[in-house]
Amino acid sequence: MQKKDIVMSGIRPTGFLHLGNYFGALRNFVRMQEEYECYFMLADVHSLTTHPDTKELAGHVKRVLAEYIACGLDPEKVALYCQSHVPETTELYLYLNMLAYKGELEKTTTFKEKARSQPDNVNAGLLTYPVLQAADILLHRASLVPVGKDQEQHLEMSRNFANRFNHRYGDLFPEPKAFNFGSGLVKVPSLDGAGKMSKSENQSATIYLSDSDDAIRKKLMKAKTDSGPTAPNTVKPDYIENIFQLMRLVSDEATLVSFEKAYDECRIRYGDMKKQLGEDMVKFIAPIREKAESIRNDEGYLRSVMEKGAAKAGASAAATMEKVRAAIGLKYY
Ligand code: TRP
Repeated sequence: MQKKDIVMSGIRPTGFLHLGNYFGALRNFVRMQEEYECYFMLADVHSLTTHPDTKELAGHVKRVLAEYIACGLDPEKVALYCQSHVPETTELYLYLNMLAYKGELEKTTTFKEKARSQPDNVNAGLLTYPVLQAADILLHRASLVPVGKDQEQHLEMSRNFANRFNHRYGDLFPEPKAFNFGSGLVKVPSLDGAGKMSKSENQSATIYLSDSDDAIRKKLMKAKTDSGPTAPNTVKPDYIENIFQLMRLVSDEATLVSFEKAYDECRIRYGDMKKQLGEDMVKFIAPIREKAESIRNDEGYLRSVMEKGAAKAGASAAATMEKVRAAIGLKYY
């Protein structure tokens, strides 16, 4: 049998998963699990670089895990695990640090941004964040990494570290590449008309997988609109296009077409549209939220998922590290 390509991705458990995570990542992960050998990780160690206070960490980790499963990831098919449960990660991270240069780390966009936003805590972990990320990926010798655009630079650095290792110690790592299933990334716009939905920015403009039905309806009703087009077939302003885009994601075709038509004929009523979108969004989110809640409340099950994930990821990591130590020359007999 031909060996399956290896997929690896991670997410920092620092907040609540939202619709952007669902359409941008999770939905693709669920498709990938059928065709690839998949490692999906919660980057709890990475989160310490920006969130040293760990009061909420366990809660976030468990909820994200529950939400992953509720969205359709099957812990029997993929390795679903916490970064801190695979100690080989930190060993590889250390070796890769010797192949990473201070200059390139300082030039990394995310490092510069974070150094600016937390000037009192510009820790070395922040500087070497991309090295740890490379360790996550190379540990499984993954070649496919489903991530968003904001991670491209980190991925390029992972490729550089892999190539430097291969060059110095012999071919071991494939070059990891960004990977998006099918037709590329779906944009999930924020409700305030500014950018994408995001974990930390404007919470009232982001729909979370854990939002109550009421919260979803209220957020959608508050989305920015105007008094409507005054000439037929007008190009939509961004904030209106965003509402249509959300409708494309969760409503049925006939609903979408009827509002498109109403818009083109200048008889659209945004109040009605947002109400309809609210109902369709509730229908979409509620089953995920309810499933996630019931998984979240089953600590025994969550624990067994974590253990199984750690064992699968650990086996792959141990096999790679045997080869890494031998390649580097840290093996004397
Ligand atoms: N840095 C990634 C992010 O912020 C999370 C991450 C950690 C990751 N390790 C990874 C992503 C390995 C892909 C592969 O989104």
